[in-house]
Parts: sequence; C-alpha cells; structure tokens
Amino acid sequence: MKLASKERGAAADRVESLDLQRFLTQERHPIHLVGVAGSGMSGLAALLIELGHTVSGSDKVTTMETDRLQRLGLRFHEQHRPEQADAAELVVFSSAIKNDNPVLVSGRDSGKPVVRRAEALAAIMRAKRGIVIAGMHGKTTTSAMTGHVLREGELHPSYYVGAEIPILGTNAHWDARGEYFVAEGDESDGTLRCFHPEHCLILNIEEEHLDFYSDLSAIEKVFAQLIEQTSGKIFYNIDDANTARLCATRKDAISFGFSDKADYRGADVKSRAFGSDFCVYFRGRKLGEAVLNVPGPHNVHNALGVIALAIELGISFEKIAASLRKFEHARRRFEIKYESERFLLVDDYAHHPTEIRATLKTARATGRKRVLAMFQPHRYSRTKALRGEFGGAFDDADRVVVTEVYPASEAPIPGISGQTIVDELLKHGHRSASYQARLEHVHCHIGNALDIGDLVLSLGAGNIHEQLSALAADLVIAEKLKAVVGKEADVCLYEPLSKHTTLRVGGPAQFWIEPQTEKAFAELIRFCRAENLPFFVMGRGSNLLVRDGGIRGVVVHPFGGDFDKIEVNGCEISAGAGVKVREVAYAARAANLGGLEWMEGIPGAVGGALRMNAGAMGSQTFENVVRIRYLDSQGNAHVKDRNELEVFYRRFPLLENNFAISATFRAEPTERATIDNRLRESQEKRRTTQPIAKSAGCIFKNPNSIPAGKLVDELGLKNSRVGNARVSEVHGNFIVNDGGATAAEVLELIEKIKATARSKRGIELETEVEIVGDPA
Ligand code: EPU
Repeated sequence: MKLASKERGAAADRVESLDLQRFLTQERHPIHLVGVAGSGMSGLAALLIELGHTVSGSDKVTTMETDRLQRLGLRFHEQHRPEQADAAELVVFSSAIKNDNPVLVSGRDSGKPVVRRAEALAAIMRAKRGIVIAGMHGKTTTSAMTGHVLREGELHPSYYVGAEIPILGTNAHWDARGEYFVAEGDESDGTLRCFHPEHCLILNIEEEHLDFYSDLSAIEKVFAQLIEQTSGKIFYNIDDANTARLCATRKDAISFGFSDKADYRGADVKSRAFGSDFCVYFRGRKLGEAVLNVPGPHNVHNALGVIALAIELGISFEKIAASLRKFEHARRRFEIKYESERFLLVDDYAHHPTEIRATLKTARATGRKRVLAMFQPHRYSRTKALRGEFGGAFDDADRVVVTEVYPASEAPIPGISGQTIVDELLKHGHRSASYQARLEHVHCHIGNALDIGDLVLSLGAGNIHEQLSALAADLVIAEKLKAVVGKEADVCLYEPLSKHTTLRVGGPAQFWIEPQTEKAFAELIRFCRAENLPFFVMGRGSNLLVRDGGIRGVVVHPFGGDFDKIEVNGCEISAGAGVKVREVAYAARAANLGGLEWMEGIPGAVGGALRMNAGAMGSQTFENVVRIRYLDSQGNAHVKDRNELEVFYRRFPLLENNFAISATFRAEPTERATIDNRLRESQEKRRTTQPIAKSAGCIFKNPNSIPAGKLVDELGLKNSRVGNARVSEVHGNFIVNDGGATAAEVLELIEKIKATARSKRGIELETEVEIVGDPA
C-alpha cells in the first residue's frame, strides 16, 4: 500500500509496510479513532464496525452520532488518554487533532501504524469501485443524492457522507453486496490526494480553506492530482469556470450544467418554494423531466451531476427521476426546523460567502415577507481571508445578526471577530446588521425582532443551529399562547425587561403578553398551569429588579383594555390593575374627593401597589382599599372586602399566589383647594428628597430602628457605586442607574450596603424591591 503524502506526520515510515486496504477490508483488528465525534470520523467508525473491527474512539465531546455508534459497539472515551492506544493495532486520527494529542503521541511512540482519516477511507474505497464527490460546496448533498440514487437503482452502494442523512439512515454504510463505494472527498486539508477512485464528480472549485492553502492555484493542484488519479470518468460542472478549466481537456470527461455545451444539460427550471422542476437533455436529446424536492438552483446543478453519473453507471433516467423525486435533504441543508403560516425557521450549514448567497436566495424565493439571518462565522482564518466577500453576501437578508467566530481548531487571530463581518456588511451598505458576541443571546435578539411572515435562517458550520432550535422550541409555545389569548393580546418573544422597569435593567421575558381582558388573563393562567409554564405578572416595573438573564416562562403585563379602566362611584374609585396609582389620586381630585393625595407619590400601577401594600407620606395602600377583585391560581375570579384581607407593612400575602384585577378605594368629599395643597406637598416632598434619575424607588424596607435612607446616609455610602449603579446622592435608599447599569451591578451594590449595615450597626436590611429572574 503506497501512501505518498507529505503531510502524514511522524508515523509515515511505519505505515509503508502495511497493506492498509487488506488490513481494513479483509482482516479484523482492534482500531482506535482519535476525534471520533467529528462528522467525518463518526462515518469512518461506522464503516469499521460494519467491517467487523473492534473499534474504540476518543473525543472531548459526545454527539448523537457517538451515542448511536456506542449502541453499535463503539467503545467511547470522553477524554483522550495515552493508554487508549495500547490495545489498538491501528490508530486513525482526524485533521482536527493536534500533534500533541496524548493518544496520538502514545500510538506513535509505541511504533503502531498511525494514519489520517482520509488515508483509512481511501484504503477502504480501494476494495470497491470508488466514486469521489468533490468540490467546495454541495458535496454532502450530492454524495447523499448519489448514494440514494444508486441504492434505489439497486446497485447496493457503500457510502460515506459528511453529515447525518435521514433518507440514507446513517452517514456511512458498508454493503458487501455492491461494487461501488461513494464518498464525499474533503478538500480542506489536502487529503483529496489520498484517493484513487474509478470515477469522480467535481462540483466547483474556488478560494476556500485559506488556513491550509496559500491560494487558488494550491487548491487546484490538489484537484488536478485527484483527477490524475481517477481511472474512469470525470463528471464536472461546466458552469464553474475553475472546474471546467481543470477538467474539460481530460479524456473521459463528462460535463453537466446549464450551459449549451454541457453533455448533460438542465433547462426550463421552474423553482418552487422547496424544490424545482427541470428538463434534462443529453447532447441535445431530451431525456425527460425531473422533480427535485430540495430547494435552490444550486441543487439542480448537484442533481444534474448525479443524473450524469447514474446514467453512465447504467441506471435508467426514469428510475433516476423517480429516486430524485423522493430525495430529502441532508441535515443542516436548508433544513426546516419550524413551519407555520406565520413563521418559517430554516437551518443551513452555509459558511462560505457563495453558499450564503445561494441559501439566502433560496430563502428569498420562498416568498416570505422578510428574511432574518443569524450567522456564526466559521474559523478566524476564513473570516479574515474572505471578509470582503462576506460583506456582500447578505444582500438578500433584511436583517443579519452576527455572533462570535466558531474557531473549529484554530487559535484566535487578533482583530478578527464577528464584528469584522458586521463592519464589512455596513461598509457594503447593508440595511440592518448587528453583532451579538454571546451565542446564547442570538436567538433572543432575532426572536424579539420577529414579525408575522418572517423567515429566520441560521447560517454556519459551527453550533449556531442550536440557537435556531431554541427559537423554534419557544415559537411552538408562543404560537400556543397566541391561540389561547386570540385577538385579545399579542405574544412577544424575549421582550427586554429593561424597557419595562423604571430602573431600566433586566434581561428578556421568554414570553411577554399584554392581555386586554380578564378573560384572556384567566385563560393564560389556566394554560400555564396545565403546561407547567412559569407565570409572572408584571405591572409598571417600578419596584422590581429583574436579573440580567431575564425571566423564564410567561410574563403577563395587564395593561390597556379592562386593566386601564377607572371609575368614580360616589366616594368610591375603582381602578384596573394596570392603572397608574398616581392617576387614582388625580381622578379623585377631579371628583372633589380627598384622602388619596399620597398616591401621587407612588410610581407604580395599582396591581403592584396592592401586591406590596405600597406607601408614601405615612400612608399605605390598604388604608384606602374597600375591596379587591383577583384571579386565583386556577383562573377563577373572586371579590374580597378589606376586612377579609390580611395585610402587613409592604406585604400582602394573598397576591403572592393570586393575581390582582382591580381595586376599589374609598375617598372623602374634600375641598379642591385642600386636595391641591396635599398634592403639592407630596410633589414637593418627592422633588426635594428623591432623585429624578432612573431608579426602582426605595430599595430597602425601613427597619424599626431607623429609616433605611437615613442609615445608608449615616454610613457614608451615598454616591458609592458598582459599575453604573450608584447610591443616589439625594436619598440614601435609592440606587440609580447612571446609564447601562446591569442587574448584577445593582445587586452587588445592595450586598455591599447590607454588609456595611450589618457590620457597622448590626442592622439586617431587607429589600423592599422585588428581585426576580435568572442571572445572566
Ligand atoms: N433621610 C436621610 N438621608 C437620606 C434619606 C432620608 O437622613 O439620604 C432621612 C429623612 O430626612 C427622613 C427619614 O430619613 O427623616 C425618612 O426619609 P423619607 O422621609 O424620605 O422617607 P422614607 O422612609 O425614606 C418613604 C417611602 C417612600 C416614599 C416616601 C415619601 C419606604 C421604604 N419608603 O421613604 O416610598 O416615597 O416615604 O412618603 O417606606 C418606595 O416605597 O419605593 C418609596 C420611594
């Protein structure tokens, strides 16, 4: 077995004597795979298991594939340890594995044969009539399509494809009955040189993997060698200039594409939302019509290559067309994650500008209103080398959110990040591009911008698809919630709660709903109870500190509609839970009713004031309450009079598990002048003793011994700060947001104050502000 390849590494000498083809396909041995979880390595593991070897493998991650392989007999190790190579008679390693990997080092040191993945694959292929599918874009889809068409054509092919393919069942399979072996050839690390196939199908050649190749001519050299080593026919895409230049002059070259000169020509392409219909001609003679149920003109190209190959292998056009009609996509290739009339969520592996452009074009062609893209650049080297091309690749997206680079095995390159792509997009004139460094926030960013008719696309070869899956899972619930509330409310995903708290901090609400009626509110309570969804009601957010990770579950904001109603009836004033407490004071004034003027000083809404028995100017809410209406935890309505209610200083236990709908307050007929004087007094008190900056009102309850503000003042903590959170210089019981403060900063400041009060005065301060949500 000859393995003439320069980049094989230290073990090269020891492999020369080994007949790798015989070792792998006619004998049985213990073999260890280093980096077995990778998409290519897991396929190889599957083949080796089917060939009867005892296969072990190591990787720092587990995947669905490793789980599946374990069930088939793989001995999997979650860490790379030197002793794993001990029992193996051959060690195979992935290109992502570094030279100092302990299993690799120990394998080499012990003198065992050590080979790269592609070398092992090429040796297995030699036992059959090999067909290599190569090119920069579309190889996985095309190899899967080839495997499928050959299988339907009863050729019993063995195959090896770089991704999980639902229609094939697995990403690799050894079929002892058939003659052919179809494999996706990976050009990224030069190992295409290992293959000596009978046939070869070349899709396209352009600048890529510039971490490995110096330029296009270096890439072409590798393809030229593959062509040279191919004994049978070369099927090539005539519409790709680089490919055509390299292949056209070769003997036994067969072209495909849309060009008039193509041997196998596609024409009359009719694009549908998720597929295309087209005619196929062979040297001017019509072969027939084909229907493809995977979208985009690039896939018509791929199919033309497969048709050419399959016909040359003796399968009839009718049979091929029937198989193509059944062909389903590979995972992560325009894979629909969620589909409804309102929204469409699609994941795609595209990570090169050409692929991105093609995928966005396909997305655009679905006819949805807007296309929103989340993009995770793959590798620093590609981001750097193709930055300009990326800038112009997103024209078909209405909005692009770019996250941090997925490094693969690379170390960061200074100055290169997701922001690099955003800068290029803006330079190119893109209408809406932004950078969200933290991957786990990307789905919130896009989800919050979501509107009816949108198509959301996740793009990248790393793990961005997890963000789309998270969005899809939440969208399923959001749509159910929408069905529950109907026209009476909108359901919004990931609403930033910093917009709804007076302190202006807080992460997103997973589901934000503003019901307009008591009925919708009650339905929501019932639904969330049945579905076990966390449920939180938020008023004006004036006494609330939401942590930076936001609130999981449903956040209801009763606001507008039934909840904004205010009615005066004799000396009684009824107000919905969403009415501002201050408005109650002014409605009373308009009816010449007094006694509620202190309410002028409360920033929140009625629901919140009830919930915490808010107070000001020496009065508190329940001193004026006559009765309240609320919904219980099952969504049933109740009315209770004041004397039935148990109330404490800044605490009203009933509303800890029930939800306020409205309250009725009693006032006294009073001279307008008296009311105005009291209102003025309250305003004056606020104006002179409280900050106007963004705050959550008083942070601490007043301890019995001393008002909290006075205590903080005496402790000399005014103006002390953590980041942009600062103790107000005006009032010691207020923490103000100087702009951009985080909840974490506010919480740290609270803890500092508490610790100082404890150590210096022995006073245990208790927060009055309600603290909710998850840390970032
Ligand atoms: N004080 C200081 N230094 C300060 C702040 C206050 O010495 O930095 C002194 C004041 O001079 C006063 C005493 O502390 O002698 C109490 O202060 P204040 O009159 O401002 O009242 P408070 O108890 O701090 C309460 C409510 C406020 C409400 C005001 C006005 C609580 C925890 N706070 O404040 O409510 O607006 O009365 O009526 O009961 C809220 O609940 O969010 C809120 C702001």
